[in-house]
Amino acid sequence: SVKIAVVGAGSGYMPGVIRGLLHRAADLAGAELAFYDPDAEHLALMTRLATAMFAARGADLTVVAHTELKPALAGASYVFTTFRPGGMAARHLDESIPLRHGVVGQETAGPGGFLMACRSVPVLLEIADVADPGAWIINYTNPTNVVTDAVLRHRPGTRVIGLCDQHVGDTEMWAGLLGLPADGLEADWIGLNHATWAERVRLHGEPIDLPARLASLEIPGGGATPWRDPSRMAELAQALGFLPNSYAKYYFFHDEVVAELRAKGTTRAQDILAMLPGYYASIAAEAAKPDPDPSRERGGGEHGEFAVDVICALHRDEGRRIIVNTRNGGAISSLEDDAVVEVPAVVGRSGPVPLTMGPLPGPVRGLTRAIHEYERLAADAAVTGDRRTALQALMAHPFIRSKHTAERILDEGLAAHREHLPQF
Ligand code: G6P
Repeated sequence: SVKIAVVGAGSGYMPGVIRGLLHRAADLAGAELAFYDPDAEHLALMTRLATAMFAARGADLTVVAHTELKPALAGASYVFTTFRPGGMAARHLDESIPLRHGVVGQETAGPGGFLMACRSVPVLLEIADVADPGAWIINYTNPTNVVTDAVLRHRPGTRVIGLCDQHVGDTEMWAGLLGLPADGLEADWIGLNHATWAERVRLHGEPIDLPARLASLEIPGGGATPWRDPSRMAELAQALGFLPNSYAKYYFFHDEVVAELRAKGTTRAQDILAMLPGYYASIAAEAAKPDPDPSRERGGGEHGEFAVDVICALHRDEGRRIIVNTRNGGAISSLEDDAVVEVPAVVGRSGPVPLTMGPLPGPVRGLTRAIHEYERLAADAAVTGDRRTALQALMAHPFIRSKHTAERILDEGLAAHREHLPQF
């Protein structure tokens, strides 16, 4: 039987992951799930929920809770990482420090993402060191592209796949905007995590005439959520002639977004912190029922389903087409072969094999390459703790137009996060 470790198993995203495991229970029959989290209370809650949900539906899955990393990872063939180092308190700093200097404050994009990388990378390197040789690390921890690159280059031989389900929800949003059914719609999202673009879209395998659809696209008013802004996305797609990832708004509407974030007054982390106690209480109430079925899930269904699908694709050698973060290997001709990219890949037992996708679209080629150069420097800085490399990373980032701004954000950020940055 197979052992699957979950690092960050007390996360609010776990109900969705548990549901994903339940859907694929037959494919994972007999599996031992090692739930690890240093937060014993939330770990116990999610363990209770999973155990009850599996029992109520007769799933042949066993859950063992761990508050120590080593025993959790020992013997695990798959290590699924889904945690935020420093939690929402640290995220609040990532989102607020750049904003004070006129730069978008966001947990994965820009300097906020850089600070998160500096906290995430040392933990992922430790996981790579502790995990069994040959184990697959399936990483959701952000910024996933940078984290995956750091592990691949600084722990050679480690088997790691970076994940993000952003494209799942984005493709659904585009189905709505383009007047197409979401079911059976597939887009070739290529680029870097949270900086992908799609020129090719198919419905049940049949190509869609994207330029024609975009020409007649009506720009909707409003409808923005914390992750998606259909109005701006439609406006961008018309200008570009292809589909942008939702995070493109931070690049192409940078100053407007800064003004909005400032006017809003609270960070996303603060908003989530305010709802978390009620959320965990509702999960606890649900877990106490004989047949729990949590409907309020952070991340929605897609987050957990997607991660479990990747584990199953590896484990069962499915050879399924999945969008992952992995080494380019020539799939995107506009980026180096050893760059970590987000790209459709065929995933089977030997890992992801990226599909040949050709060049990045011209209007965003330079931008994406610039983000890649930033990410490379960010990964190196996060591993080494070298201040000059860190400064270069921020200076290379398209959000930042001034060396002094880069320096101020760096100094404030490193000081604020000191307890989570052993490398600096
Ligand atoms: C999207 C992104 C993820 C990110 C998440 C944050 O799904 O693709 O990378 O972790 O948003 O969601 P939250 O509800 O915590 O703001």
